[in-house]
Amino acid sequence: MEYTQRNPVPLPASGPLGTIQTQMDTTFDWEYALKQHKLLALYEKGKAATWNASDLDWSIEVDIEKLMASRREAAGGVSLFNRLLDPPQPLDEKRQMEFNINMNAWLLSQFLHGEQGALLATAKIVQSVPFEEAKFYAANQVADEARHVEVYHRYLTEKLGVSFEVNPNLGELLDTTLSDPRWDITYLGMQIMVEGLALAAFGQMRLTMPDEPLIQEITTRIMGDEARHVAFGVLTLGELYRNGELTPQEMREREDFVIDATHLMRERLLMQQVFERMDLDVKVWLEWAKQTPFMKAFRQMLFSKIVPNLKRIGLLTPRVRAAYAKLDLLRFEHEKDSTEEIEAKPPAEFLELLRQLLGQPPAPGLPSG
Ligand SMILES: [Fe+2]
Ligand SMILES: [Fe+2]
Repeated sequence: MEYTQRNPVPLPASGPLGTIQTQMDTTFDWEYALKQHKLLALYEKGKAATWNASDLDWSIEVDIEKLMASRREAAGGVSLFNRLLDPPQPLDEKRQMEFNINMNAWLLSQFLHGEQGALLATAKIVQSVPFEEAKFYAANQVADEARHVEVYHRYLTEKLGVSFEVNPNLGELLDTTLSDPRWDITYLGMQIMVEGLALAAFGQMRLTMPDEPLIQEITTRIMGDEARHVAFGVLTLGELYRNGELTPQEMREREDFVIDATHLMRERLLMQQVFERMDLDVKVWLEWAKQTPFMKAFRQMLFSKIVPNLKRIGLLTPRVRAAYAKLDLLRFEHEKDSTEEIEAKPPAEFLELLRQLLGQPPAPGLPSG
């Protein structure tokens, strides 16, 4: 894995290393019962589906500026940015370009940092989960996550040359997930919440970059892996939560965790770093990121897989439902969970807006919501 780091990833204020204190049990399973057949089947599937990041076609030229220019041309030379996105202040052509480049790089950078979180979380699961089948699968996932970190890092530093440090709110969620001593909370935070959100975000990346073949290839491959990872969480936690193995008090703590993580991901994972880098009025633009229909639909869709997955593991309880009803997230409860269908289904109005922004007709076979 040799590549040119055209522009290294910027460091957070805390410096190059982030160390958190964790307290957890490291557990041997001397019984090796190996009786959870669904998990073992997933392990077999994971081993067979391994791929090498070096085999992707890294010779593909990635030029976001050129790509944006040809989109504008396809739309008849007019930019729909100001009209469709309704920004708090209109941006001229040069600033729109800057905005698009930064937004794309910001999202991909958070993918990179989330992948590193997944790498550490899964290594922790190998140590702490009390049955061998899950240790096997988690070990397989560790290798997947290392590859995902490698791919996004290479794409950002060799191809884009623009990147961002970890968003502090994402950092907080990763820290909480990693530092908790209860093994199932690490699963819940990573496999259900973070990876559920990532699956939907990857789907959106594919929709917003139909004309960039390298990111299409990367995203499709990573989504294939992530679908197994979420399935791993769903299978393991479903057993635990649905079979009444936890006390009501313990279940309540899991509900609290889900509700807190949801607020953090939905209300605080915004692009403040993009606004800062562009010297925009952060307060005004944050309000825009929360309120404008396109961004709202974008953030809403991030939960389209989390909600059915929570239902599947028995955590869409009355308390979680009440919190989700307030956030208008229950609309996804009847969607397919990640073990049935990996793709998130974007609402039709979101796809229509996106089609206009791209200056393109919808790609054939695109889900029509
Ligand atoms: Fe991953
Ligand atoms: Fe993953």
